[in-house]
Amino acid sequence: MKMNEALQKEAARLQRELTGHSHRYHVLDDPVISDEEYDGMLKRLMEIEEAFPEWSTPDSPTKRVGAPPLESFEKALHSVPMLSLDNAFNDQDIFEFHKRIVRLTGRENIVYIAEPKLDGAAVELRYENGILVRAATRGDGVTGEVITQNVRTIGPVPLKLNEDRSKAPLLLEVRGEVIIRKSDFEKLNKARMEDGESIFANPRNAAAGSLRQLDSKITAKRPLDIFVYGTGLVQGLEFNTHHRLLNILQEFGFPVNPHIRTGLSVAGVLQAYKELERLREGLPYEIDGMVIKVDDMALQQQLGEKIKSPRWAIAYKFFAMQKTTRIKDIIVQVGRTGVLTPVAILESVNIGGVMVRRATLHNEDEIRRKDIRIGDKALVTRAGDVIPKIIRIFESERNGTQIHFKMPEYCPVCGSRIEKFKLDRSHINKCVNSSCQAQLKERIRHFVSKKAFDIEGLGRKIVDQLVDEGMIRSFVDVFTLEKEKLAGLERQAEKSASNLTEAIERSKKISFARFLYALGIEHTGENAAKLISEKFSCLDDIMAALASGLETIHGIGPETASAVSRFFSNKENKTIVRQLLEAGVEIKADRPIQARDNPFNQKRVVLTGTLASLTRSEAQKLLENSGAIVTSSVSTKTDFLIAGKDAGSKLEKAKQSGVRILEEDEFLAML
Ligand code: IVH
Repeated sequence: MKMNEALQKEAARLQRELTGHSHRYHVLDDPVISDEEYDGMLKRLMEIEEAFPEWSTPDSPTKRVGAPPLESFEKALHSVPMLSLDNAFNDQDIFEFHKRIVRLTGRENIVYIAEPKLDGAAVELRYENGILVRAATRGDGVTGEVITQNVRTIGPVPLKLNEDRSKAPLLLEVRGEVIIRKSDFEKLNKARMEDGESIFANPRNAAAGSLRQLDSKITAKRPLDIFVYGTGLVQGLEFNTHHRLLNILQEFGFPVNPHIRTGLSVAGVLQAYKELERLREGLPYEIDGMVIKVDDMALQQQLGEKIKSPRWAIAYKFFAMQKTTRIKDIIVQVGRTGVLTPVAILESVNIGGVMVRRATLHNEDEIRRKDIRIGDKALVTRAGDVIPKIIRIFESERNGTQIHFKMPEYCPVCGSRIEKFKLDRSHINKCVNSSCQAQLKERIRHFVSKKAFDIEGLGRKIVDQLVDEGMIRSFVDVFTLEKEKLAGLERQAEKSASNLTEAIERSKKISFARFLYALGIEHTGENAAKLISEKFSCLDDIMAALASGLETIHGIGPETASAVSRFFSNKENKTIVRQLLEAGVEIKADRPIQARDNPFNQKRVVLTGTLASLTRSEAQKLLENSGAIVTSSVSTKTDFLIAGKDAGSKLEKAKQSGVRILEEDEFLAML
């Protein structure tokens, strides 16, 4: 008996602690234990609950890993219909929406709240006495499907409200949008492609598809996230405004979107729309507009609903990020390493405010898989990343004039032989001539690009011209360009020629990481170059390093290691590097060689508050130069918290976690 009691206590403690850690991880983005520690605790709880299933409550964190598969979905009747929203497409539509509200309520000063319109799948979560008991899809708005066990696997969804059971509302139906972040979506599709599975057209489809899995273990593997924005039926909870409701929901533990704007007039709404539109592309998830709501609940009530949509809210839409257009042609581009990439030439379309004329087709396999033909009508997107892509073509729109694309057998630029080989699971076509003009142009473009030598004024067109005129044949020629000759180029004025030579001169001082990246070694991106430069203090060391030595660097894989070592053992490449140094390129160390007794070396440091003698970024630079890892939130792994004036919650937390706290003087002295 005693033993059981102790076990039951342990289970309850684990449930409580795991719930707290899950909230910190998913909602607050501020974990205080490692993933391994979390998994260890969860494993222990699962063992106990397996032996005593009666202790496995519906809000136990063990429910997050998925349940046995269902045969079919049960129907979920919504207590309050899940309506949709009317759309506005311009400012005029918003003024009219506002005028109608003024007319119907007899009030002049209406206060609005504006929220991002999240592009995902709507769900309703029902909590009884604070416990999640049912989750449902929107369905047709009246009846959805019960997807409780799938929703339980979504980390940020609280299985239990962050409130005493006695104080929790009797009934709370929370509505929100389940989303997949752009970066997670790309990863998910990449993995599906590699496994030969069909890819999702957009994050919305991926989110909706993941929620409608009969096997919740599949849902558990999908990177789903959620933001909540409203309620259905509520009993035992009072709030007068929508923004108050959102605050309460946040306190209960729900993720509420950080870009919500409150207290807006109609003019403020239009301003907020412009600001959100500017934020759109940089947001980590997709939004397709802004939802504008009357903030006052009594006014919402007074305005009421039409059949399908409320009178107190409207969706002000953004430009679509997907459009249909026609593929006029498919051409082939030769990349820096000679790889041929087919590119679709499109009838130009405006996608999200940008004119799109081309879309990458990646490789021949992709064209075959999507059955893309010249003349096809296609759905194109530029969401997620900047390069437009073809999502799918419309087979039913074919009229017999569509033409199959065939990869050329000879390089379209230099006429050399094309070699075919397999990399991972795709077939690659490569021009074998390393002095092919197209390859040279791409290599030079990369060499002078922002993350490499960063030569302002040496854009695509000028590089093309310089290569075509024979003024650039290799990297070193960039540094021997003469002002007079540059000024003589077509469309190149004297002034810009002299700006350009100055920019070239300035670029000669370069960090080791950038220099490595600029060389354009295969499999060596910005990150790999940085990692390598941190381990080797000079070029000679790298040149002497064998692949096996490079591979020991954390984060460097065998492909990069062997590519780098191959690059530097090649005689021609050695000559190229020597020529660059002789032309005046000067490699600066990325960070000073660290003294072994530096107190910050390899230490995790957090900065908070305002420092009197340094800005935050200067302090960060100094710390990083001393080998510190500067992070933004305090955890048990933090070694030092540097506390300036007006330090807030981080300082409190550091005290609680026993992190060593340094004031400015002490910090500077240690540096
Ligand atoms: S409010 C009656 N707020 O848009 C109010 N909806 O077209 C209706 N959506 O089905 C919902 N973000 O899936 C609201 N901040 C937000 C939203 C939002 C996305 C979706 C939701 C709804 C659809 C309505």
